[in-house]
Order: sequence, then C-alpha cells, then structure tokens
Amino acid sequence: MVIALFYKYFLFLNLFYLDVIVRKNEGTLILNLLTSSTLLLTLMFAVFSESAEKTGEALFIENCAECHQRNGKGIVNVYPSLAGNELVIGSGADVALVLIIGRGEMPSFNAAMTSTDMANVINYVRNSFGNKGELISEEVIESLKQ
Ligand code: HEC
Repeated sequence: MVIALFYKYFLFLNLFYLDVIVRKNEGTLILNLLTSSTLLLTLMFAVFSESAEKTGEALFIENCAECHQRNGKGIVNVYPSLAGNELVIGSGADVALVLIIGRGEMPSFNAAMTSTDMANVINYVRNSFGNKGELISEEVIESLKQ
C-alpha cells in the first residue's frame, strides 16, 4: 500500500518533469528524464529485491505457524511442537525431507517453496524456540529434492 503510494508519487514526478521540461532545451530534458527514471528504477529495484528473498521467520509465519504456531509449540495431540523436537534438532536434512515429502496431515512444500526458501525456513526452526542446529545450504536441499 505504502509502496503503491510511493510508486504513484514517482510516476507523478515523472509527468511533472516532462511538463516543465518541454519549455527548456533538449539537454535539460534528457538530464531530467534520466534523473526521474533513475529514481523510479532505484525504487522498483529496492521493492523487488526486498520481496525476492524472505527471511526464515517470515516464511515460517506464512507457511507453518498456522499449524505449528508462531512460538513453534504446536497444539498438543494435533500439531507437534518444533521446540525441542528430536527430529528438528537432529538434522536439517531430516527436516528438509519432511518438507519435501510431507508427513501425515502435513502437506508437501516441494512445489510451493524454492530450495532457498526451504533452507531459510529450516535454518529458522532449527535455531528458534530454544533450538540450536547447524545451518543447511540450498545446495543440499536441491540434492535431496532429486
Ligand atoms: C496443515 C498443518 C501443517 C503445516 C502448514 C505445517 N505442518 Fe509440519 N506437521 C504437521 C503435522 C500434523 C505433523 C505431524 C505429522 C505426522 O507425524 O503424522 C507435522 C510434522 C512436522 C515435522 C516433523 C516433526 C515430528 O515430530 O514429526 C516438522 C519438522 C515440521 N512439521 C515442520 C514444518 C514446517 C517447517 C512447516 C512450514 C514450512 C510446516 N511443518 C507446516 C502439520 C503442519
């Protein structure tokens, strides 16, 4: 929403420049056009690069917390707690296999998540809620997917 407003503001600036510039010489026109489009491009790049890679925490809240809860403690007898969970503490590869294959009521995330996102969310659950584990790389996830 805020981003959309910014975007509109810059678009407006762009038009404004064009309007004013018509009365000036060509050199200024090109310079002003360059300035306003550079601003636009910078903004768009910032927006896109921000949304490109999500943090493990954001991914967890988006994909896992509805069942395992934000605090990772799950719901007794329904969704297992990931806090202090043997499998989770055990190895990143085991968690990756659960995400890739799915398990019981839990859906597979193979199609829904890139290897980068999987690595980020696994590293998050293995190092949150009191857990501590070595990091897993997206390359290892990639090889497990095959
Ligand atoms: C729709 C609910 C649901 C969602 C969403 C979900 N899970 Fe699960 N998860 C489960 C259930 C139910 C189990 C237990 C499955 C079984 O053992 O039959 C489970 C098991 C697990 C296990 C194995 C733990 C154990 O003790 O068996 C891990 C690790 C895990 N989930 C991580 C995640 C992560 C990370 C995400 C998000 C990317 C996620 N889950 C999303 C429901 C869910």
